[in-house]
Amino acid sequence: MAPEWLKKAVFYEIYPQTFYSPESEGCGTLQGIISRFDYIKDLGCDAIWLNPIYDSPFKDAGYDVRDYKKVAKRYGSNEDAKELFEKAHEKGMHVILDLVPGHTSEEHEWFKASSRAEKNEYSGRYVWTDSWFKGIAGRPYIGGECERDGTYMLNFFKCQPALNYGWLNPSESWQSAMDSPEALATREAMKDVCRFWLKLGCDGFRVDMADSLVKGDDEKHATAEVWRDILGDVKRDYPDSAFVSEWSNPYISVGEAGFDMDFFLDHPGNGYNFLLRDYETSGEDRSYFRSSSKVSCRRFINDYVPMYEAIRGKGYISLISGNHDTVRLSHSLSDRERKVALAFILTMPGVPFLYYGDEIGMRYLDLPTLEGGYTRTGTRSPMQWDDKTLTAGREGKLYLPCDPSNDAPTVEGQKKVADSIFNIVKSLISLRRGDSSLQADSPFEVLFCSDDSPLLVYRRGDLKVAVNPSSDEASAWLDIGTGKTIWSIGEGKCEEGMIRLKPQSFVIFK
Ligand code: NOJ
Repeated sequence: MAPEWLKKAVFYEIYPQTFYSPESEGCGTLQGIISRFDYIKDLGCDAIWLNPIYDSPFKDAGYDVRDYKKVAKRYGSNEDAKELFEKAHEKGMHVILDLVPGHTSEEHEWFKASSRAEKNEYSGRYVWTDSWFKGIAGRPYIGGECERDGTYMLNFFKCQPALNYGWLNPSESWQSAMDSPEALATREAMKDVCRFWLKLGCDGFRVDMADSLVKGDDEKHATAEVWRDILGDVKRDYPDSAFVSEWSNPYISVGEAGFDMDFFLDHPGNGYNFLLRDYETSGEDRSYFRSSSKVSCRRFINDYVPMYEAIRGKGYISLISGNHDTVRLSHSLSDRERKVALAFILTMPGVPFLYYGDEIGMRYLDLPTLEGGYTRTGTRSPMQWDDKTLTAGREGKLYLPCDPSNDAPTVEGQKKVADSIFNIVKSLISLRRGDSSLQADSPFEVLFCSDDSPLLVYRRGDLKVAVNPSSDEASAWLDIGTGKTIWSIGEGKCEEGMIRLKPQSFVIFK
């Protein structure tokens, strides 16, 4: 059962490196984040996802964990983390950390022990072959670096050896079964990491590459079995903890594995990608929220609705404005297009996630790679609080540079403009928090979606929501009674069997 607090939750993702540096120098810190809690609360978000804060050599921005139980020095200490959880709770907010269960850094003590020639407690903690000369068919592996006679499998970058949860159908003597002592020991170690932070006060985890655990498990049912065990045990001790998976397959992640939420991620050709970033495959931007594309929302609806229905009552699909891996929406969508898109994300069922800076319209920047970011680095630039941050960022004093343009948006500036993205997002979150029709569990039904029209109309509880991202007016005959506008971007009417929306409009009717 998903915890009760998720029903109203709106999450805010924080990239700790760049959220707030109290000295306006270097990297962001946990104390910096604590000092911005009032901002997050004022925006209306009541839950935070922190990207990895653990000790790490930072070859993949902290997704290469060197010590699961220690806060990286540059962010502060475990005491700061404890204070962060406590202060968040005092303000009625929840905090989830990032759990990286599929791999560690090659500098983790477990890996160092595992790579020694003599057998020890950690020899089976990672996926190793039994000869320096033997590769792993079809999978990335490394040989020739360790004294152990074997090669080891990678889970992502070169710095991230894969932890061993066993193979679905072991076919080589070096492949562990899922119920082998070494594979079970890895599971227990991950449960221990979860309990460590939950005991210190965190409220759950975003789980990195959650589908990557069991090897040779193409259908992912075996990986789901491992999660049922891990989540079952951890949630027995911490029933109010929440887990969101980086999986993008809620049938399995929520339906089988027991996650409370699953991200609907930006995978080329899926429904979510079609909404916002459908420009890579065809050469032209056919994203639904692009006003010039004028396409139907059908491809999203066809993908989303069956998933939504399959997991209704078990957990949630989480729509995101973006994350630390995606290109920011401002790369391809105008201010107005983004306002309509964000309004949609915030009125859909499930638990929405806002990526820091999206609420002020921060831009995707052309930045050189840092800590394994590559093209993702442009989405990780410093949160633009005010002119002081912009100056510090432009002078190279912060972890990454800031938007160099003269009209770079800032929190300070956005607050002053009545219909800024910030104020629109804030007002809609406030509506959502105050009206159960717009919350995670409230019924959702598509009332109008046609191959020939960009108009989308859906019911949420006793509200009707109409979206027209296109630069043309859109209308449909629809017998859903009359409705009074209670919130809108642009304009629309719902009367006498007809619904009509002006270009680039989003309207909630009651
Ligand atoms: C997904 C994370 O979101 C990404 O940032 C990271 O590089 C990989 N997993 C590897 O952990």
